[in-house]
Amino acid sequence: MKKVFKWIGIVLGSLVSLILALMVVFFLLGNSRLNKTYNFPPDNIAIPTDAESLARGEHLTKMLCSGCHGADLSGVADWFPPGPFGSMDAPNLTSGKGGIGDEFTSDEDYVLAIRHGVDPEGKPIFMPAVVGFSFMGDEDLGAIIAYLKTALPVDNQTSGQNFSALGKILIGAGLFGKLPVEEVSHAAHVTAPAAGVTVEYGQYLVTIGDCKSCHGAEFAGGPFPDPSVSILAPNLTPGGELAEWSEKGFIAAMQTGIEPDGKAMDPNYMPWKEIGLASDDELKAMLMYLRSLPKLEQVTE
Ligand code: HEC
Ligand code: HEC
Repeated sequence: MKKVFKWIGIVLGSLVSLILALMVVFFLLGNSRLNKTYNFPPDNIAIPTDAESLARGEHLTKMLCSGCHGADLSGVADWFPPGPFGSMDAPNLTSGKGGIGDEFTSDEDYVLAIRHGVDPEGKPIFMPAVVGFSFMGDEDLGAIIAYLKTALPVDNQTSGQNFSALGKILIGAGLFGKLPVEEVSHAAHVTAPAAGVTVEYGQYLVTIGDCKSCHGAEFAGGPFPDPSVSILAPNLTPGGELAEWSEKGFIAAMQTGIEPDGKAMDPNYMPWKEIGLASDDELKAMLMYLRSLPKLEQVTE
């Protein structure tokens, strides 16, 4: 009997050591991915100064950035709330104290963060929206940067990512997928399609608006990206309910949060308040693109 216990002890002991060793390996791997330094040649994007471009920059920034970085862009503390994986602020994007305008020394620093997913030192940032932004045309990116540099400065000290050891282990084990810098193409120049109510322009807006991050790679919906939220992102292809909405109904839903059947969309999970800042023509183009997609069944897992 004693021998059996001894063997069980040895087996359990080895298993525990093996798991500990694996955790150390994944921790080191995660740490090295987060601390890797990337070097991208300068994109030399033109930063405009005319009023029209600044207005375009403001429009895009409110639509694409304010949902996470706050209505005044001064950042959101604990955007990813503290928990076993660590925590993360959405940083202050203004040039007030504690903001990136205070810290970034060149236009290129903005391009590195928004298009390539790295900080001024070339280290990865964990801003998933970079995956969509990497498709943003040079002109739109330049307009956003021009606007950020001139937006009202707000003092607010924020910090970015603060992963715990467990968070780093999970990143090392690949459970959080790729870091944005590991995923995007790093094209130095991107040309956006001409603005208009067209399928191509709708595809562009839906791509930089990162609808895929919740509605799935094929737009057929699926579980919400945060597994602690049980709500299902709906299917946006012609296989879903959207197929029955009128164009007016779609525009009204994005602007008011109320679907044609009277159901309210939760702004904590579906960012309609920011998407609804798009112009009517931009919304029409998005719908036109979604309607052009192949008809798919709702993804549920
Ligand atoms: C889905 C949420 C989300 C959206 C949308 C978003 N951001 Fe971020 N952003 C973050 C988070 C979170 C971080 C912190 C990442 C980190 O520190 O690893 C961040 C970091 C940044 C940084 C890097 C700051 C630094 O100190 O290096 C810049 C610049 C930035 N965002 C600009 C933008 C701009 C411009 C837009 C809109 C075009 C935008 N973000 C849209 C969540 C978001
Ligand atoms: C952060 C995740 C997230 C992002 C990003 C997102 N959505 Fe949604 N969306 C949802 C969720 C969740 C719902 C369901 C909301 C509810 O029922 O309260 C939804 C609902 C919708 C609906 C209603 C569909 C139906 O059948 O009821 C439409 C249309 C829609 N989203 C379009 C878009 C478009 C277009 C974009 C990009 C510009 C987008 N969404 C970006 C999460 C998201």
